[in-house]
Amino acid sequence: MDDILTHAADGVLTLTINRLHKKNAFTPAMYAALADGLESAQQDPSISVVVIQGGMTVFSAGNDIGDFLQRGASTQDSPVYRFLRAIATQPKPVIAAVCGPAVGIGTTLLFHCDLVYAGDNAAFSMPFVNLGLCPEAASSLLVPQMMGYHRAAEALLLGEPFMAEAAMEVGLVNRILPPTEVNAVAQAQARKLAAKPLASLMETKRLMKKGQMSQVLAQMGEEGDSFGRLLQEPAAKEAFTAFLEKRKPDFSRV
Ligand code: COA
Repeated sequence: MDDILTHAADGVLTLTINRLHKKNAFTPAMYAALADGLESAQQDPSISVVVIQGGMTVFSAGNDIGDFLQRGASTQDSPVYRFLRAIATQPKPVIAAVCGPAVGIGTTLLFHCDLVYAGDNAAFSMPFVNLGLCPEAASSLLVPQMMGYHRAAEALLLGEPFMAEAAMEVGLVNRILPPTEVNAVAQAQARKLAAKPLASLMETKRLMKKGQMSQVLAQMGEEGDSFGRLLQEPAAKEAFTAFLEKRKPDFSRV
């Protein structure tokens, strides 16, 4: 699977999103590869940390829109939900390195990472409503919690993008760097973590996350049901078709 590159070294498993000609949009096979990587990191005692990175110009354009058009009702064991559960419940630290656009799940996955390093070109957006959809990845819970309700409403109801500075201000991003340095800094931080006692890292993460783990998983399940229903509605079909036809959607038709 060349669209997700997997590399393990010095206790760090690096998953690189590598479908640049489609702006790193995720296909089911890519979610499955990410889920495999996260699950193997969980099992493998030689791995302490996972890094998820994209390219210098784009992190990910989110779910592949062509796949959205074709997708039938997703079940909870489909690749995307396997990936979301694997990242939400990953017991070892996960670091993200984000440059350029991070759209949809490209942004919402970051709420499950422990550290996020961003290029000064990073642009985050969750345009679910603009696509006739609703939030996923427990973002309807985690975004208001992190940003406060009104900023979350701008991001999730209006679907407005926000840049690296705003993301750092709300606490989504740890540090803003030149795009040429982001992946290297993420790797350096990963190696610092990998040198620490793994049991202490895992216990500390577990204690920080345990308060709302069951709520996060329940929210993901409820969002998944709504998302699956909305995917089949005319508004979503119009939004996807418009994107692929490179025109603005016309929701008055639906
Ligand atoms: N699904 C499928 N294909 C996608 C895609 C996606 N999510 N995002 C980009 N692509 C494809 C484009 O169709 C285009 O393909 P083509 O060269 O065959 O025409 C190629 O990737 C380049 O995309 P383009 O839009 O020309 O790049 P850009 O630099 O102008 O814009 C984005 C980059 C990410 C801002 C823009 O592509 C975008 O908004 N993508 C859709 C994001 C989205 O709505 N995702 C779903 C979230 S739930």
